[in-house]
Amino acid sequence: MIRQAIIPLAGLGTRLLPLTSVYAKELLPINGKVGLEYIIEECIEAGIKEIIFIISKKKEIIKKYFYNDKFYQKIIKKKKNLRIINEYKKIKKYKKMIKFVYQNNPKGTGDAVLKTKKLIKDNFFLMLLPDDLIIKKNCSKDMILIHNKKKCSVMASMKVNKSTVNRWGIYSKKKNINKNNFYIKDVIEKPDIKSAPSNNAVIGRYILTKKIFKKLYKQKKGKGGEIHITDSIRKLIKDGEKFIGHNFKGRYLDCGTMSGYIKSSMEINKL
Ligand code: G1P
Repeated sequence: MIRQAIIPLAGLGTRLLPLTSVYAKELLPINGKVGLEYIIEECIEAGIKEIIFIISKKKEIIKKYFYNDKFYQKIIKKKKNLRIINEYKKIKKYKKMIKFVYQNNPKGTGDAVLKTKKLIKDNFFLMLLPDDLIIKKNCSKDMILIHNKKKCSVMASMKVNKSTVNRWGIYSKKKNINKNNFYIKDVIEKPDIKSAPSNNAVIGRYILTKKIFKKLYKQKKGKGGEIHITDSIRKLIKDGEKFIGHNFKGRYLDCGTMSGYIKSSMEINKL
């Protein structure tokens, strides 16, 4: 059973400047709702009971968003507005599920995951990258179903344009399980177009084994001087750990870039 999810939120969001110069990108509204709330909803619907946020001192505004009780209570006392009351109830519900850990140096996703080590209780946990929104179908829920059957790690996969492989983690396949799932032979972080083994890219949903922490301890910096989760996953696969790639059914929205962010509001508006 997967009960815990982790969400790395310490990134600086430079691709969305100037929107992120004084504000957290994960709190930006997407069609009138804070982006991070879509991710939380995906978790809850997938049966997750506890969510660990990896923030930084610079991103404490995220904590404040969930710990703004006095403000809400004052407004509600004065206005008794049903919409505000319901929004506050929702935020209180989320707050109960959330724990915070800090990554004050944004050294990469691998380093962010390592910060959660002490809080992870079970053998497997879910990680969601908040820049990657998946709508129309709950990707985490489907991945948990696969994990429950196969009892191994699962990662989301999507075919990308061959000319963009150097922006993603790229899989090489070992064996197809069925139309939508395959065993992963290898995964390479942001390969050159020439050396990329495929155009099957890693999308930000991962069910990871606790064994990843041992690898992360020793993980050296990789592409762009960052500690990548992909590099530690690769080592686990080399050790014989099973990883499944899941071609998800929902629609992917890249909220980490300006054009993607703008498009995602329009796409969600059409739903
Ligand atoms: C991260 C991962 C990469 C993955 C991507 C999905 O990259 O390192 O393997 O393909 O998320 O969005 P980033 O977007 O942080 O550069």
